[in-house]
Amino acid sequence: MIGKILLLISLTSCVSGTFVVKVTQTSYQAEENHNITLEWMFTTNPDSSSTSQHINCDMFTDHKNPVLYHVHEGVEVPESEDKQFAGRVQSDKDALREGRIRLHVSRLRTEDLGLYLCGVFTDYGVSSVRWRLNVTGIFVVNVTQTSYQAEENHNITLQWMFTKPDSSSTPIIVCCRLLADPNDPILYHVHEGVEVPESQDEQFAGRVQWDKDALREGRIRLHVSRLRTNDSGLYRCNVLTDDGQSSDSCLLNVTAERIQQDESVRDEINI
Ligand SMILES: *[C@@H]1O[C@H](CO)[C@@H](O)[C@H](O)[C@H]1NC(C)=O
Ligand SMILES: *[C@@H]1O[C@H](CO)[C@@H](O)[C@H](O)[C@H]1NC(C)=O
Ligand SMILES: *[C@@H]1O[C@H](CO)[C@@H](O)[C@H](O)[C@H]1NC(C)=O
Ligand SMILES: *[C@@H]1O[C@H](CO)[C@@H](O)[C@H](O)[C@H]1NC(C)=O
Ligand SMILES: *[C@@H]1O[C@H](CO)[C@@H](O)[C@H](O)[C@H]1NC(C)=O
Ligand SMILES: *[C@@H]1O[C@H](CO)[C@@H](O)[C@H](O)[C@H]1NC(C)=O
Repeated sequence: MIGKILLLISLTSCVSGTFVVKVTQTSYQAEENHNITLEWMFTTNPDSSSTSQHINCDMFTDHKNPVLYHVHEGVEVPESEDKQFAGRVQSDKDALREGRIRLHVSRLRTEDLGLYLCGVFTDYGVSSVRWRLNVTGIFVVNVTQTSYQAEENHNITLQWMFTKPDSSSTPIIVCCRLLADPNDPILYHVHEGVEVPESQDEQFAGRVQWDKDALREGRIRLHVSRLRTNDSGLYRCNVLTDDGQSSDSCLLNVTAERIQQDESVRDEINI
């Protein structure tokens, strides 16, 4: 404890105009699954031992601050890294000795998007930098229609489209009916490119036909027959591929069947 206080005092008393941390860029833009090198510089003191150096880089969010990179007493502590970044961060050790921090972050995810804060603590100064990282998704799932209207006992084809993955990709697709329940009933399931009809919830048993050819073209076409009024609700397809993950939902509204007689009566009136 005393050591910590002393360290703090020495840090604050030594903060002079000479210790500066500079970012070369305050914002970075990258695509999902690509790599990026984040770089910044700080002034080094040749008289000071590098073991007094601490570096702490966190992603700044409202709930928790996942650790991106951590150096304690001059030694990297990869175990401190949050699991979100595990195995994806490499630092350039030669650059570090020259007062440059170069972090190579690979296989970017859209969840990496955000504000990052890095503090550098040495026995001759303390400083921090911040930068923003924007990761744009290259993989998108879209509904072709946001809502469907149908009558009981009729059929309907629900459709989604996704950015066509390359032929080597084996998508995992789960389409389910969204309930306030953690076990949302599954309408359709594809695992690594292979359909898994056994996963389907029994309420849809024998009522869903899928279009395999459409799937190869990046379209999910689910033909649901003998609709029931209790099929009404929100349906979501979640697609995970090597290119990323995305999902989208549509609303299905099934109304009670109109009495056939009513229709013929109306037809007669129309005539
Ligand atoms: C991204 O980095 C990883 C690991 O560092 C490497 O295997 C991969 O080839 C890199 N990809 C690109 C597009 O540079
Ligand atoms: C991220 O980049 C995309 C594409 O350039 C842009 O449309 C979007 O507004 C950016 N988001 C943020 C938070 O800067
Ligand atoms: C998804 O919708 C967005 C915005 O409507 C559009 O720009 C994009 O091309 C669509 N993607 C697919 C795969 O249809
Ligand atoms: C609904 O689908 C079923 C099975 O796919 C088919 O036998 C039936 O003829 C279809 N009904 C209508 C009204 O299209
Ligand atoms: C939905 O309605 C059908 C009859 O239309 C009924 O057999 C089935 O049990 C109902 N399912 C649920 C989950 O309530
Ligand atoms: C379903 O459709 C009926 C008839 O058009 C309409 O009255 C009702 O508001 C719709 N329900 C929802 C949840 O959209």
